[in-house]
Amino acid sequence: MTTALSADTVVAVIGAGAMGAGIAQVAAAAGHRVKLVDSRAQAALTAVNNIHAQFAKLAEKGKLPHADALAASARLIAVEQLADLADAGLVVEAIAENLQAKQQLFRDLECIVAADCIFATNTSSISVTAIGSALQNPLRLAGLHFFNPAPLMALVEIVSGLATPPALIDTLFATASAWGKTPVHTRSTPGFIVNRVARPYYGEALRLLTEGATDCATLDAVMREAGGFRMGPFELMDMIGHDVNYAVTCSVWNAFYNDPRFQPSLIQKELVDAGFLGKKAGRGFFDHGTDAEKPVPSTEVSQARPAVITICGACNAASALANRLSAAGFAFERGTSEDGRIAQVDTAVVFVTDGRSATQRASDCGVANTVLIDLAINYSTTARIAIASAAQCSEAAVCSATGLLQACGIKVSRFSDVPGLAVMRTVAMLANEAADTVNQGVCTAAAVDSAMRLGVNYPQGPLGWADQVGLHTIRDVLTHLGATYGEDRYRISPLIQRHVFSGTKLHD
Ligand code: NAI
Repeated sequence: MTTALSADTVVAVIGAGAMGAGIAQVAAAAGHRVKLVDSRAQAALTAVNNIHAQFAKLAEKGKLPHADALAASARLIAVEQLADLADAGLVVEAIAENLQAKQQLFRDLECIVAADCIFATNTSSISVTAIGSALQNPLRLAGLHFFNPAPLMALVEIVSGLATPPALIDTLFATASAWGKTPVHTRSTPGFIVNRVARPYYGEALRLLTEGATDCATLDAVMREAGGFRMGPFELMDMIGHDVNYAVTCSVWNAFYNDPRFQPSLIQKELVDAGFLGKKAGRGFFDHGTDAEKPVPSTEVSQARPAVITICGACNAASALANRLSAAGFAFERGTSEDGRIAQVDTAVVFVTDGRSATQRASDCGVANTVLIDLAINYSTTARIAIASAAQCSEAAVCSATGLLQACGIKVSRFSDVPGLAVMRTVAMLANEAADTVNQGVCTAAAVDSAMRLGVNYPQGPLGWADQVGLHTIRDVLTHLGATYGEDRYRISPLIQRHVFSGTKLHD
């Protein structure tokens, strides 16, 4: 088994911005002597003083023994020039995101450090292969992609460029583990794992907004409360900053030769053009001014309890509704389900979305009063659900379906009739991207799920989630979205297709 770099290896961190400072803190806490350097006068010293204060605070809060905090602080120093890094065994670069600047830096370092010193770049979007191409010895370079804030985020993507030898990856993997992180290995492809696989979380939400599915606050509430995501896509984009989020999307889109899966959104471009960059600008999708009111999601008003309820079939959603009705003391009948319906309520027929619009499904099934519900991560506990009704559906039927969900203790957010609703459509697209990432040999299925849980706090890895929803369902949702929009964006990953045909799970 490969061992981590020993604690007596000196770690040099170059760039004392948000990331460099965080990485220096992690390495010092892990027992290394750390030298931090920055081309801006005083930047490294200021960062070191801040990190010392950070260690002291952790000690005060009882999260780090006082002696350890003092020792970690003593191990961390600011230096003024690259020449001071001659004894480094590992250099982590976290300077500006610019290929030429990174190449020049590593070229300069090759003349300063020993031949066996490892080079790591924290780049989030530049090809590790391209950075390495400028080196006399590209075999010494790999990506070590931390997430912000580095001391708190567990994930580190260990990135192989074309020249990076497996032994170097093994050493960095073991080292990141020894530093208390959870490393995943990825090949150097655009966006690596997280910044690629996360694109649909923003992309599908932006499309739903463009199509007038509902407003931002309601979409956010559905993604949080039914999807289990920590933040809704719009509040998250406002927090990240639209300039940053839009730039990442454009960079991945360009790098994949304008693959429509990653196509940026005109709505977001307009925010960038306007300078409405999100929280930092006081305005984005939401108003972040000092007296701004908290946005309220739209929730259907209380409907009368339906007179006749039949729960149909025994899929997850149907069983959960039956249990919730029983727990709330409502009487209902049980029925079979030949066409996938999960409930009949008065004249309404309720289905879980399969990626068709309610209007198409009503037409296909010959059921005018069709009401669709969205996916929920857990139908037994979900506090909210999105619904959509067919153009042919009566308002009375929508009220009955709403009344059924409310009787189960679920808040209802009514969308216009967009195909796939919000959680289902997003999960299908996240799983599709994750599957293609695995299918293209970028990383393993375990790595992609771990990366998305730890790097962006998803409640489940997209592949495990797809297994749970059922790969037939994911395939159907994508097929129907593709048919509706006629776009290559919704083409199905060959990996999902293979597993559907073989009847196996992605995580088998
Ligand atoms: P930052 O702008 O906060 O810090 C960069 C620092 O590098 C500045 O202090 C700057 O003075 C210094 N610098 C620039 N050129 C230099 C050079 N040639 N030599 C020495 N110092 C130099 O940037 P941030 O956010 O810390 O990002 C750094 C790197 O980490 C970038 O490659 C970025 O893409 C990547 N990254 C950023 C994440 C984030 O959330 N901010 C997350 C993961 C990676």
